[in-house]
Amino acid sequence: MQRIFSGIQPSGIPHLGNYLGAVRNWAALQRDHECIYCVVDLHAITTWQDPRLLAKQTRELAASLIACGIDPLAHILFNQSAVHAHVRLAWICNCVARMGWLNRMTQFKDKAGKDRENVSTGLFVYPNLMAADILTYHATRVPVGDDQRQHLELANDIAQKFNHDYGNFFPAIEPLIMGPAARVMSLRDGTKKMSKSDASEQSSINLTDDADTIALKIRRAKTDPQPLPGDVAGLEGRPEARNLVGIFAALTDTDHAAVLRDHGGQGFGAFKEALTALLVEKLTPIASETRRLLDDPATLDTLLRQGAHRAAAIAEPIVSEAERMVGFLKL
Ligand code: AMP
Ligand code: TRP
Repeated sequence: MQRIFSGIQPSGIPHLGNYLGAVRNWAALQRDHECIYCVVDLHAITTWQDPRLLAKQTRELAASLIACGIDPLAHILFNQSAVHAHVRLAWICNCVARMGWLNRMTQFKDKAGKDRENVSTGLFVYPNLMAADILTYHATRVPVGDDQRQHLELANDIAQKFNHDYGNFFPAIEPLIMGPAARVMSLRDGTKKMSKSDASEQSSINLTDDADTIALKIRRAKTDPQPLPGDVAGLEGRPEARNLVGIFAALTDTDHAAVLRDHGGQGFGAFKEALTALLVEKLTPIASETRRLLDDPATLDTLLRQGAHRAAAIAEPIVSEAERMVGFLKL
């Protein structure tokens, strides 16, 4: 059986992009894979996190993942900082990866922007930690949204260079970038991805939003004046229309073409109403289950602690062997 690994940052409330691009697929993959899912608190502090909030957000995200269908007993769910093997292998990855490779990372360029001299050095080596996360478990398949494609290519480069320099040890990683909503865009600007760090609250639908909030955000979502086209070619040059159709397709397990067969010719007023109903139906049970889980933090903490123990049991022999291959004295 192939081993799956993926991670998500506790740096804010998870949104529809996280859900449709990643977490929903994580839940489905549990049927026929061994899955390890991680709340990546080490990654989160590459940008400033209020220490009073980080632990709270870590629990909230864990609860939200369970509410989305992640099974913490049949599979593994834990927070990254609880398994030290990640940091040990990340240091080795720091020493295997080349400056030139990291200089090409578009996410770093986007996040650092004009502030390049002033961002944390952690933000620069962030993809090395991500590679370590995956390699720590010899995981071979990694379900992520489209924005992580370049980071997974880098992880494969690191694995290959380690294998070349020290001997064959790490398997190749296959990205799983799935479905019609692998990149959900901002509701205010169809050319920008939906993101936790967007200043406008109206740009994203959060997994904690209630029905009224969802309805309001969809009503205000940017569109163009044309009705929906009858086929996919008609979405060309209409990023906002494409985004809403993609969201609809993902929520109904179809694709853009099928949605346009049913709704082509419709104006956005009617289409937005149908989309709102769908979102409310799928998301409000997740929000209420998340709240229920958060009412019992002791049980949640026990699940995470046990997840970390089971993760460490897989990670320890793999990372110890990597350290031995590098030449560390293992006493
Ligand atoms: P992050 O919130 O950056 O930790 O991302 C967690 C997961 O959600 C990763 O697999 C991302 O690729 C995915 N993701 C984040 N934003 C989006 C988006 N706007 N559309 C689709 N997937 C996304
Ligand atoms: N960098 C990923 C993101 O922001 C999160 C992540 C961290 C991850 N480690 C990972 C994803 C390992 C997949 C595998 O979306």
